[in-house]
Amino acid sequence: MAANLTADQYQAIHKFLEDKAGIRLGKGKEYLVSSRLGRLLDKDGMSDYGQLVEKLGSFSGRTVQAAVIDAMTTNETFWFRDPTHFRILAEEGLANHQGGVFRVWSAASSSGQEAYNISMVLGDARRSGRGAPGSRVEIVGTDISPTMLALARSARYCGISAGRGLNDEQRKRYFKEDGDCLEVLPEFRTGVSFREFNLTKPIDVLGRFDAIFCRNVLIYFSADLKRQIIERMARALNPGGFLFLGSTESLSGHQELFEMVNVSGGIGYRRR
Ligand SMILES: C[S@@+](CC[C@H](N)C(=O)[O-])C[C@H]1O[C@@H](n2cnc3c(N)ncnc32)[C@H](O)[C@@H]1O
Repeated sequence: MAANLTADQYQAIHKFLEDKAGIRLGKGKEYLVSSRLGRLLDKDGMSDYGQLVEKLGSFSGRTVQAAVIDAMTTNETFWFRDPTHFRILAEEGLANHQGGVFRVWSAASSSGQEAYNISMVLGDARRSGRGAPGSRVEIVGTDISPTMLALARSARYCGISAGRGLNDEQRKRYFKEDGDCLEVLPEFRTGVSFREFNLTKPIDVLGRFDAIFCRNVLIYFSADLKRQIIERMARALNPGGFLFLGSTESLSGHQELFEMVNVSGGIGYRRR
């Protein structure tokens, strides 16, 4: 029988997620918690949410804590999401790069589609003569979810959602097909790496970037945390570097840090 989730237990899980990952569940998401964490109870031999909540507050519960965060993240993504961002990156970002390493951060990379799309678009742009001669591209994908990072590193996507967002030409151009799986071709994996990183933490450890994609994740955070992350990202961007947010997210304020660039309806924010 499914375990019962009390209001206090829901509040405790809610607080844990916001404290550790910045994620705010909002009101009335009990069904989401039960459906995603119910499986964890069975898997880790816990009989009820009381035991799980106890582990959230104890040092010995670290494995369960990581599993709760992993299970509660929303990882939806697909190929070439908001494609105008990739166009701005190639036409306004790479085209004006002066040389050396062109570094791009996919800051909530989920299963990796965004990072590989950046590699594909920049690879094509460089082949058509954009970017400084002798320069090189480095793409860092980060996420809080180890499960998503493992899938991203595999660069292999299987099942009915594997090709979501791709047209036939893109399927042929960027992937090897293997049954119902798609594998990113080695040339588009070169220069792409993934690491675990929690966006609530200081980002200096990741170095500086020429562009940051932080799409469809800030919506889960409080206004204050969102402001802090945007300010940290502004500091991590080289002058003239771009920040891209999800199409339903906006950069309210921060005009002193960024100017808005609008190309074919797609918006990017250029570091002043
Ligand atoms: C909806 S996906 C967005 C994927 C991709 N950026 C896109 O737009 O298609 C949101 C991702 O943010 C990650 N995430 C949530 N909270 C995070 C945090 N505090 N630090 C790092 N990543 C986080 C989730 O694990 C999830 O993979």
